[in-house]
This record gives sequence, structure tokens and C-alpha cells, in this order.
Amino acid sequence: MPQVHITRRERFSASHRLARPDWSAEKNLAVFGKCSNPSGHGHNYVLWVTVAGEPDPETSFVTDLSLLSRIIKERVIDHLDHKNIDVDVPFMKGRYSSTENLCLAIWEQLVEPVRELGVRLVTVKVEETENNYAEYHGE
Ligand code: NI
Repeated sequence: MPQVHITRRERFSASHRLARPDWSAEKNLAVFGKCSNPSGHGHNYVLWVTVAGEPDPETSFVTDLSLLSRIIKERVIDHLDHKNIDVDVPFMKGRYSSTENLCLAIWEQLVEPVRELGVRLVTVKVEETENNYAEYHGE
């Protein structure tokens, strides 16, 4: 049976700071750029969650996108939106708040509930700015 990929987009706004405490301010600025600003800064993030499955013979839908959206909101967006990622977000504890790490953590939050929906999580894509995004495919 054909597997079709379908993607849901969600958005959240959050603040963070990227800096290693064991590095000087100069080195943090050189490596992390504006993201090392000592008092933090914000982004309007965009999250794409792609799942795959067989279209239902009756509806032709791979899954109920309203259910997928609810899972993403409850497991991810509600924890991140209008929060300081470095302080407020349990699933980011102990991780640098890079876009790469957001992808990994969001994948962990979603992989099981998405499986329970009867589809397979394929890609988590997080856009930090319109010029930068990261993707994770579970590999
Ligand atoms: Ni940043």
C-alpha cells in the first residue's frame, strides 16, 4: 500500500540563550553570535511535523490532522510557547537550546503518541529564523 507523508505546521514564540559558561564572552559571541546575548533573545519558531501512513480507504486521509495538532499542542507547543527554553521547558532540561536539540527533544515528545495515532513520525523540522532550520528523521 502507498505511504503518503502529511505535514502539520505549528508555531511558538520563545526566548533562549546559547552560551557555554566555561567560555569567555568573546568566545561565546564568536561561536554563538547574537544567540549568546547575555540577557537572552526571542524567536518566532515554526515547527513542521511530518507523519506517514496509508490513506484510509473510506476518507482517503492518512490521519486526523486535528488529532495530530492536539498532540503537538499538548506535548510540545504548550510547554514552549512564550517560555524561556533554558529555564521553563522540562524536556529541554540539561540541553543547549539549539534548533538541533529542539528537533531531538520534540521528536522524543511526539514519537510515541504519533505511533498511537496509527501513523509513523517521519520528520520534525524546526525553523528558528527564515534562513535557518533543522530537521530530524529519527536516525
Ligand atoms: Ni537564538
